[in-house]
Amino acid sequence: MTLDHGFVEKRGFLLLLLILVTVSIGGIVQIAPLFSIESTIERVQGMRPYSPLELVGRNIYIREGCYNCHSQMIRPFRDEVERYGHFSLAAESMYDHPFQWGSKRTGPDLARVGGKYSNDWQTVHLVNPRSVVPESIMPGYPFLLERDLRAADIAAHLRTLRAVGVPYTEEMIEQAVADLHAQAAPEGDHDSVLERYPKASVGDHDGQPERLTEMDALVAYLQILGRMVDFTAIRAEDLRQ
Ligand code: HEC
Repeated sequence: MTLDHGFVEKRGFLLLLLILVTVSIGGIVQIAPLFSIESTIERVQGMRPYSPLELVGRNIYIREGCYNCHSQMIRPFRDEVERYGHFSLAAESMYDHPFQWGSKRTGPDLARVGGKYSNDWQTVHLVNPRSVVPESIMPGYPFLLERDLRAADIAAHLRTLRAVGVPYTEEMIEQAVADLHAQAAPEGDHDSVLERYPKASVGDHDGQPERLTEMDALVAYLQILGRMVDFTAIRAEDLRQ
């Protein structure tokens, strides 16, 4: 056997050829099964594109680098599931561009943080984490309360996401600016927002009802995380594929 290998190693071209054959077999074994299954994403109920306000909040999350300390993927291990809830499904990030799975957890996973705390708690925590969690090492983001939300290009953003497969309808794009303001306004047209974006967190988020700030958008985003999929309607066979 060793002799044979010496024979191959002395002939560069033959070695290259055999490497290519070996790598191709490995590749086919991994890739071929994907063609025969119906879909790599489970069928779940409740997934929808982000509302315009959530989307802008998500952009702020990315801009501020929250992903440097927070993952958004609960792994299918007992300790993770007991701490954070149902493990993350592929379907839950199918409209995320870019996804926020991450692998760095200086702080806890945020995939299901929506609804865990009130809007007030989220705002106070983001302004100064130590005021609610004394031992926290998370930086404060008080300036988010001072910065007016700028989102004049939100319709274009929705259209761009549609180009990469997020199912925004023509109506959603037309109403994007109106929906963004309505979701954050204390007395806005919440019914239309909720019809288009079920379970969205509506109303004032940052304790300043007269202003629309970056804090409003970021908190609205945090409040929807992990809440879209209806886990009571999931059957084991949907997950197995
Ligand atoms: C330097 C690392 C770091 C950065 C950057 C960071 N965090 Fe945190 N975060 C933490 C740590 C540590 C905790 C746990 C202590 C606490 O609750 O403050 C935490 C906790 C949280 C919690 C509470 C989670 C829970 O389940 O209790 C939320 C929500 C949160 N962070 C959101 C954010 C957002 C939004 C940003 C970006 C604007 C951000 N964090 C940036 C480290 C960080």
